[in-house]
Amino acid sequence: MTDDLSRILPEPWRVKVVEPIQLPDRRAREKHLKKAGYNLFAIPSEAVFIDLLTDSGTSAMSDEQWAAMMRGDESYAGSRNFFSFETAVREIFGFPYVIPTHQGRVAENLLFSTVLKPGWIVPNNTHFDTTRANIEANGGIAVDLLVPEAKDLDSEYPFKGNMDVARLAETLQKNPGKVPLVMLTMTNNSGGGQPVSLDNVRAVKAACEKYDVPLIIDACRFAENAFFIREREPACQNWSIISIVREVFTFADGCTMSAKKDGLANIGGFLALRHDTWVQNLKNKLVLIEGFPTYGGLAGRDLEVIARGLKEVLDERYLSFRIGQIRRLGQRLIDGGVPIVRPVGGHAVYLDARRFLPHVPPSQYPAQALSVALYREGGVRSVEIGGVMFGRRDPKTGQEIAPELELVRLTIPRRVYSNTHLDYVAEVVLECFRNRQAIRGVRIVKQAPYLRHFTAEFEAIA
Ligand code: F0G
Repeated sequence: MTDDLSRILPEPWRVKVVEPIQLPDRRAREKHLKKAGYNLFAIPSEAVFIDLLTDSGTSAMSDEQWAAMMRGDESYAGSRNFFSFETAVREIFGFPYVIPTHQGRVAENLLFSTVLKPGWIVPNNTHFDTTRANIEANGGIAVDLLVPEAKDLDSEYPFKGNMDVARLAETLQKNPGKVPLVMLTMTNNSGGGQPVSLDNVRAVKAACEKYDVPLIIDACRFAENAFFIREREPACQNWSIISIVREVFTFADGCTMSAKKDGLANIGGFLALRHDTWVQNLKNKLVLIEGFPTYGGLAGRDLEVIARGLKEVLDERYLSFRIGQIRRLGQRLIDGGVPIVRPVGGHAVYLDARRFLPHVPPSQYPAQALSVALYREGGVRSVEIGGVMFGRRDPKTGQEIAPELELVRLTIPRRVYSNTHLDYVAEVVLECFRNRQAIRGVRIVKQAPYLRHFTAEFEAIA
């Protein structure tokens, strides 16, 4: 259904405001790269033509959201915007307790600093890096329990975001009293933007119930996940997106959310819960690190924008265009022989840099080399998800251990780029692919002790 429609149907909106972008010439791009130490995070956004660094906080707002900004009630306490935000979250997710935060990782920070004790374990399908960092910063152990099907990048398995329920049950059984909650990240960002099925949510919840452990969903891309459920889970094919979302969340005890993704907002997030057990402690901490519980680090106008965005994201025409647009980009690359993670995920196309550049060994950061090449070739900014981001030192030998995957994520902002922009991106990738033999590896010449990918500097290996 979606494939056919997305070929025919254009964007379900028209443009009211435009923001000029420009492609610096080749010499200027080379100069920017050099000045940035070949790290795309250090390139000013004005020197980027198509910015696919992230889908987070980069959405275009609708006319209704801009209008909502003018309805901001900036009262310190009890702003009317909080109540419309709270109502939207309750209506969509069904959780009575709603705690606003200024982005997703603060919801994670509040949660784990409140419920976790050192040595305790938090299972997830795959922890996003901020989730893992917040667990580890509180002395916990973050465990990824993704289904084995997800390991095969070429497999078209429809729900590669699913959790391995047998391993979850084993983890729960072996660690009584040491697992404060189980998480499910949907879609699974670190694993290619792949969805979690409704069946899997049910099975995970059943395992949690057996051991009396709450299930918390990382809901960043909840609407995209619901779209995939409808498309791929036979029992749900006639359901509306909102009814799938409601069904999914009936199995959860709460969620963390970055409204910068499927909230269609430029900033914001929340933590929402079904029971009040943790709420008072969470709110006490919220006042300390974010603000009063009716604004949580946000302006009133931001809360109103999110309330509106959470509803707009459920529009079926929007979702089918969005998923179709990304799939279309992926298909162009597949047709050109480019190795990508399959099936194409919900918010991004992930290039497999190891197979794209087989002549660049992992020690020379193929994903970093490829992301630099994409900028050099066409002013396209992507993000490296490979050895620079996830490489770890072996504590015994001091040698760096390369992660399993070397990926380059082409992350598509919501409602921002047209299909023509993405056709251009496909051409840039294909041109790099045709000339891949000329792409050389890089070495790190400067790095920070943690989260080095943001600031590391590189040089090309001759
Ligand atoms: N969980 C997931 C699955 C995410 O993808 C992100 C952010 C967060 C939590 C944290 O939310 O940024 O609002 O604090 N992902 C962005 C990305 C940064 O580029 O994938 P945040």
